[in-house]
Amino acid sequence: MRGPVIAIDGPAGAGKSTVARLVADRLGLTVLDTGAMYRALAVLAQQSGVSTNDAPALASLAQTADIRFDGENMRSVFINGQEVSGEIRSLVIGQSASEISVLPEVRHELVRMQKSIIRDGRFVLEGRDTTTVVAPDADLKIFLTASIEERARRRWLEAQTDQAPSSLQDVVVDVVQRDHRDYSRADSPLCLGEDAVIIETFGLNPPEVCNKIVRLLIGDDQ
Ligand code: DC
Repeated sequence: MRGPVIAIDGPAGAGKSTVARLVADRLGLTVLDTGAMYRALAVLAQQSGVSTNDAPALASLAQTADIRFDGENMRSVFINGQEVSGEIRSLVIGQSASEISVLPEVRHELVRMQKSIIRDGRFVLEGRDTTTVVAPDADLKIFLTASIEERARRRWLEAQTDQAPSSLQDVVVDVVQRDHRDYSRADSPLCLGEDAVIIETFGLNPPEVCNKIVRLLIGDDQ
């Protein structure tokens, strides 16, 4: 029998990654950070001199790319044998990942890989389309939300450990642009999956959101 699959969806900065890791640790499951795959492909495209709107070249990079996760709770990301765990987190690569993620050719390949990775279950997967496209049959589907201001503030706080942290204004602009692209793209726009449970995260810390999700999974959500 397949192990459990929990899919966590929602816009940029809603806290999907942090919460997914907490839930996975609590339940002994493995995290699949689907956004890291779009980001790793964006790094490869940049290194290969492929522009973020060159769909045929990006599709062929995606078809041949070997993306792997390793290390403690799959935090280390490799593409074609090269570790890119640090590089994928920059604002520039985040923008490129958002640009390439609108291309159906790219989504097709990455979704195929993601479905294959979670095939036997025991995964918490997070990303914008996980409840609608990658795992519409997940055992539990969660849509995390928070206001644009709150999500930008969280991203900005996280970025303070970067060598050259972005200004709060830059992060707000980035979140607004990403929301626009994520909600308006033609292929798999960000939307609420059927029977996904919405959790508004304003005023809740990540362990509290994790508790809610675990209670929903075991059917004790009062
Ligand atoms: O969650 P993130 O910021 O690491 O994702 C990077 C980009 O990848 C994001 O702008 C949208 C895209 N993405 C996507 O289209 N589908 C996913 N399942 C995950 C990410």
